Amino acid sequence: MREITGAVIERSGSPVVIETLRLADPLPGEMLVRMTAAGVCHSDLHVRDGDWVRSGPVVMGHEGAGVVEAVGPGLDPSVVGQSVALSWLAPCLRCRECQRGRQWLCVGSPAYRHAGVDGTPRLSRADGTPVLSYLSIGTMSTAQVVPASAVVVMPDGVPAEVAALIGCGVSTGVGAVVKTAQVRPGDTVAVIGLGGVGLSCVMGAVLAGARRIVAVDISRTKLDLAGSIGATHAVLADPASPEATIEGIRAAAGDGGLDFVFEAIGNPATVAQAIAVLPPGGTAVLVGLTRFGQQASFEVFPFVDGGRRIIGSNYGSAVAAVDFPAYAEAYLAGHLPIDRLIDRRLALPELEDAFDRLRAGTVARQVIIF
Ligand SMILES: NC(=O)c1ccc[n+]([C@@H]2O[C@H](COP(=O)([O-])OP(=O)(O)OC[C@H]3O[C@@H](n4cnc5c(N)ncnc54)[C@H](O)[C@@H]3O)[C@@H](O)[C@H]2O)c1
Ligand SMILES: [Zn+2]
Ligand SMILES: [Zn+2]
Repeated sequence: MREITGAVIERSGSPVVIETLRLADPLPGEMLVRMTAAGVCHSDLHVRDGDWVRSGPVVMGHEGAGVVEAVGPGLDPSVVGQSVALSWLAPCLRCRECQRGRQWLCVGSPAYRHAGVDGTPRLSRADGTPVLSYLSIGTMSTAQVVPASAVVVMPDGVPAEVAALIGCGVSTGVGAVVKTAQVRPGDTVAVIGLGGVGLSCVMGAVLAGARRIVAVDISRTKLDLAGSIGATHAVLADPASPEATIEGIRAAAGDGGLDFVFEAIGNPATVAQAIAVLPPGGTAVLVGLTRFGQQASFEVFPFVDGGRRIIGSNYGSAVAAVDFPAYAEAYLAGHLPIDRLIDRRLALPELEDAFDRLRAGTVARQVIIF
């Protein structure tokens, strides 16, 4: 048992309160991780703002890195002291999807209960109230007990803030391109929405050898950032005039049209745009997540007639134990400029301010440094 400091919301839609909590020791199958960095992803904001209904109280955060401080009974202690990135979908390794290698679709993960491997929380308030940890890793806290299958050791030399981003934004965006869509050298790609996830799609498109990479956002600053990491064309979106945005994307894509368009916002209007810009044979890859219950629509006849496709991409089809070290090595080799996405570092108590900036769209990726 030890004391930690964590960013707690009482329930979805409630403001963040920084609290001192009690953290129990790890059980078999769990590890104690001291957090070193935690990214602020729009999925955290969906929870904070009540777009997604989740129970609480819960310690926020699902993108993080740390150092293993202790392991539960029966686990190999040689991992103690190692720098790690955390997966927000600790695979159960037993369900049918895990068994067939599709861990990003695991149905038996403790993450869905936002608690330890046995489904009970390791955190509590001084009065004994149990406190959940978001997706079982609750990275916006000084330390957590997490499922061992969420822990991925990082190669030497990877900065904590880079490891944190590999835990969500990078794996989600890069993986959507190289794993889910399997973009090939010479393909033409557009990315709508250039937050941490969309910029990672751009990095993934560069890594995959895409010939043209059309970046689309309402912010000129983000378009410039995308250009500096390899986007070849920029389209300043005008939400008031979707037709103009669609024309702009089509023009930037050139004669051959787009092979793939990645929607990295989670807005029905931009989902519709992603489908509308597709030429025959093109594929829309939906990465952004909407509020629960939202629907999007498209005109069916040309979609079918043109053999177009729509696919959803969860966690960039990540198998964390394999893909996290690969993304880290690509960073070290200079092929994934992950550090370029980070435009603000903050302390845990500044989290509400960080959410304000994310809501306003004025930041790329913010990272809490512990
Ligand atoms: N599929 C997954 O597994 C997965 C994983 C992580 C995050 N997500 C989701 O991905 C989405 C993006 O996350 P993020 O952290 O990068 O968010 P973010 O808020 O940092 O980025 C969104 C970007 O979209 C831009 N934008 C907003 N409205 C626009 C419009 N009408 N046209 C063009 N651009 C517009 C903003 O300027 C911003 O740059 C969120 O919905 C998040 O929940 C999905
Ligand atoms: Zn995320
Ligand atoms: Zn599973």
